[in-house]
Amino acid sequence: MTCFEAHIDNFAVDFLRSKLFHITSFETANTLLNDICGINQFFNTDEELIDLKQKLQETESESAILDRRAYGDFQTNQELANRVVKYIAEKEAKPQFVLEPTCGKGSFVIASLQQFKNLIKLVGIEVYLPYVWETKFKILSFYLQNEAISKPAIEILHANIFSFSFQQLATQTKDWQTLVIGNPPWVTNAELGAMDSKNLPKKSNFKKHNGIDAITGKGNFDIGEYISLLLLNAFHKHNGQFAFLIKNTVVKNLLYEQKSNSFHIEGIEKLNIDSKKEFEVSVDACLFLCQLNQNPAFICQEMDLYNLQKLNTFGWYKDKFVYSIADYKAASEIDGISQFVWRQGIKHDCTKIMEMERCNGHYINKLKQEVKLEKDLIYGLLKSSDLKNKEQTSYRKITIVTQKKIGQDTQYIQRNFPLTYAYLKENKAHFDKRKSIIYKGKPPFSIFGVGDYSFAPYKVAISGMYKTTHFTLVLPDDDKPIMLDDTCYFIGFEDLVNARIAHFLLNSPFVQQFLKSIIFSDSKRAITKQVLMRIDFQKLYNLFSFNEVRFSLENIEEGEWKKFERLMGTELSSQQMTLF
Ligand SMILES: C[S@@+](CC[C@H](N)C(=O)[O-])C[C@H]1O[C@@H](n2cnc3c(N)ncnc32)[C@H](O)[C@@H]1O
Repeated sequence: MTCFEAHIDNFAVDFLRSKLFHITSFETANTLLNDICGINQFFNTDEELIDLKQKLQETESESAILDRRAYGDFQTNQELANRVVKYIAEKEAKPQFVLEPTCGKGSFVIASLQQFKNLIKLVGIEVYLPYVWETKFKILSFYLQNEAISKPAIEILHANIFSFSFQQLATQTKDWQTLVIGNPPWVTNAELGAMDSKNLPKKSNFKKHNGIDAITGKGNFDIGEYISLLLLNAFHKHNGQFAFLIKNTVVKNLLYEQKSNSFHIEGIEKLNIDSKKEFEVSVDACLFLCQLNQNPAFICQEMDLYNLQKLNTFGWYKDKFVYSIADYKAASEIDGISQFVWRQGIKHDCTKIMEMERCNGHYINKLKQEVKLEKDLIYGLLKSSDLKNKEQTSYRKITIVTQKKIGQDTQYIQRNFPLTYAYLKENKAHFDKRKSIIYKGKPPFSIFGVGDYSFAPYKVAISGMYKTTHFTLVLPDDDKPIMLDDTCYFIGFEDLVNARIAHFLLNSPFVQQFLKSIIFSDSKRAITKQVLMRIDFQKLYNLFSFNEVRFSLENIEEGEWKKFERLMGTELSSQQMTLF
């Protein structure tokens, strides 16, 4: 049945109905329950006791189905919690103190009580009252069925983790073998913002991102990451283990930040789980496990939780953060700073109006309207999905490039291109709806990701949306450069020979292995500007002699190959100049 909106099984119902029948003081009830199941404060007031007794006399009551998204509510099934706890126990863990900081319906609490026989104290914290009750009922039922199992002092606290003082708890328990275990909320601060939820830490900007990072999304973080850091901070100098089910991206961030945090953790493991099966969600997640109070380690062993097969080792190798330490060791010789500046394609946030297809001499926009425009501001446009081939000379879509550089005045469109201006003006409302603050205070119909580089006729491009790491050579159409959208990255060249050499170098096994070694394939955007800027073209170029490349680079002369080296020098010095 349900009681206080929490599930309660027949063992607990029968016990509570019979034993509480004559009890009227919550303190007397607490003494009885503490004796039976170890929970210190089963009831907080007489009212709670009376309320529960009344509810137990009623017949089945339906629990309300609430929107629990703001609490990142994905309860761990008992089987998974048991599997995790068993794995920890096999590592010789003998905790005396267990902390489940967001204990939900208590799967990890029950698994720990069942597994660990040396427990002195167990603390569970949960913000949602029905889950607090459900955990207490489960513990009661567990001990009613397992009387012989020893009982630690148990506290299941109804509290908000963001205002809980862990330091105090850490001080009290510092001499005990500790296990911090759980599955913190799966939700990001941005998702909470969109829901207008207040379930956030007070210091939301705990990574100290600046305003620009907040705009570009770098300031977005997972609540699970905040909670992991909070607890590692409080307990990393305890002897014991830390075991959290978290998203893969959170583990990556924890490892990345370990360089500056230097938590006293080692034996770091990431054990992949099947989230679809366990939680019915398509989010890559895992068990993050580490030993506490050790010399800080900076690498993580990735495994499969179900068959314990070792998959990969990632983390810090010397001063670089890499996905595969083995691959990186083989390909690291080209790691450095790119001589060419990688650029992201054009961004306009107005697809309905700005992107069109050609049809019988006119254009059709996303609203299926026929549009007549001067050709001057029209360019072919490639998206990530168009970068599948070695070379690309055609395009499905076109776009209007309203500016040659960011912030350029757009009044010239009215003077020179009346058809284009009329179309843009007619649809101004679509542009005005753009939410991003990058468009605020900018000329009408502004775009981003545009500059001289956008008009380079030859480009070597890669998709930022797919997991593939091949590069496409983009050639102009009728002398007009083809543009890329903001899901792509590229470098631009004024002449075809240099573009072909760059294209050849980038598709060489050195770059392919290097990219595979540094990109985290489960990230939403595996390829980023940051990743591409690590390809040192000079070091890459030095790995080849002209004799080795002459057959692959047909019709390219030795002089042209050498000229490429000079171009790299020029690009590098112009990059350095822009720093002053
Ligand atoms: C992903 S669920 C996991 C629950 C439980 N640890 C388990 O493994 O089944 C996250 C839990 O965190 C709780 N929670 C969310 N925000 C919280 C907060 N601010 N303080 C305490 N608990 C919170 C939710 O109510 C939910 O029960």
